[in-house]
Amino acid sequence: MKETVVSGIRSTGKLHLGNYYGAVKNFVQMQNDFNCYFFIADLHSLTTHPTPADLHGNIKHVLVEYLASGIDPETSTIYIQSDVPEIAELYLYLNMNAYMGELERSTSFKDKVRSNPDNVNAGLLTYPVLMAADILIHKATKVPVGKDQEQHLEMARTFGNRFNRLYDTPYFPEPYAFNYSEKLVKVPGLDGKGKMGKSEGEGNAVYLSDDPETIRKKVMRAVSDGGPTEENQEKPEAIQNLFDLMKVVSSADTHEHFSDLYNKMQIRYGDFKKQLAEDMIIATAPMRERIMDVAKNDTYLRQVAKHGAIKARESAQKTIKEVRSLIGFKSF
Ligand code: ADP
Ligand code: TRP
Repeated sequence: MKETVVSGIRSTGKLHLGNYYGAVKNFVQMQNDFNCYFFIADLHSLTTHPTPADLHGNIKHVLVEYLASGIDPETSTIYIQSDVPEIAELYLYLNMNAYMGELERSTSFKDKVRSNPDNVNAGLLTYPVLMAADILIHKATKVPVGKDQEQHLEMARTFGNRFNRLYDTPYFPEPYAFNYSEKLVKVPGLDGKGKMGKSEGEGNAVYLSDDPETIRKKVMRAVSDGGPTEENQEKPEAIQNLFDLMKVVSSADTHEHFSDLYNKMQIRYGDFKKQLAEDMIIATAPMRERIMDVAKNDTYLRQVAKHGAIKARESAQKTIKEVRSLIGFKSF
């Protein structure tokens, strides 16, 4: 039996290079190796209160970009989270054994409280429980995600194991973050600090659907500094981030070439950024073309979503039936 994979992307906007290299790039290979469920996490995106029109538009973006990445809706199951109400039911059961203290200690929760103190809602607090429900509903063991999601996976294991202990049965297997390389990926942003992300501010993220001119502009505006002042000096964060981005999109030779120039204090950031932008354009071009193609076909998108919901619910209903019985819900 093939192992089961579950992966989700929140419907909060278009996909960027971080989403691609952190998760989506692996999807095509994974669908041949494993039994895969790829879904659009639209329930998760409600924590930020999108308008109905934005919500719908963003669900479409992610669906289109999933398909453009090469996911085959016949080989894999591709669906929209809110089409599978069994996930919300499992979330409710898991919430009964998720404790305030551990939820409040989650790094992503603490980050959100800091960045958005006016909207600390209960959905944000229990975000990891919903994510655990997404994964456990299909009894998945492998979850392709970037480095930022490692703690959420640990919490999913905790909630699954707690359920198993409470009902005294090894029902849920343990899910782990997965990537084909030995390390989980963290793609930095263009603003000189931290990761690439949709919510990190304008100009930080390069989207797969960005046209070449937009990519050039964003990269040329990326935060850098006045240049190295000593040979072989350690790179400050903003510069290291640009080199890390180059490692992701450029050849090893190109990366080494600019590293050498930096170490010899001969680097010209203009040339360096130009090269980085061109390599980003080459890396994203095939995806961009497919995105434009798929987006035109609304009938196909509707069919994919409908077919995916049926397949996902089959698996989810089986789990919910068993979970209900384990909990003790019985008909009279
Ligand atoms: P965002 O952080 O942009 O809002 P999501 O939270 O929806 O995106 O993340 C979807 C997937 O993309 C997750 O698997 C996440 O780990 C991955 N991901 C997001 N940003 C990065 C990044 N900068 N580097 C690596 N992986 C990332
Ligand atoms: N929390 C993930 C993120 O922000 C998205 C997500 C929700 C997810 N449910 C999931 C990823 C289940 C993998 C499996 O990136």
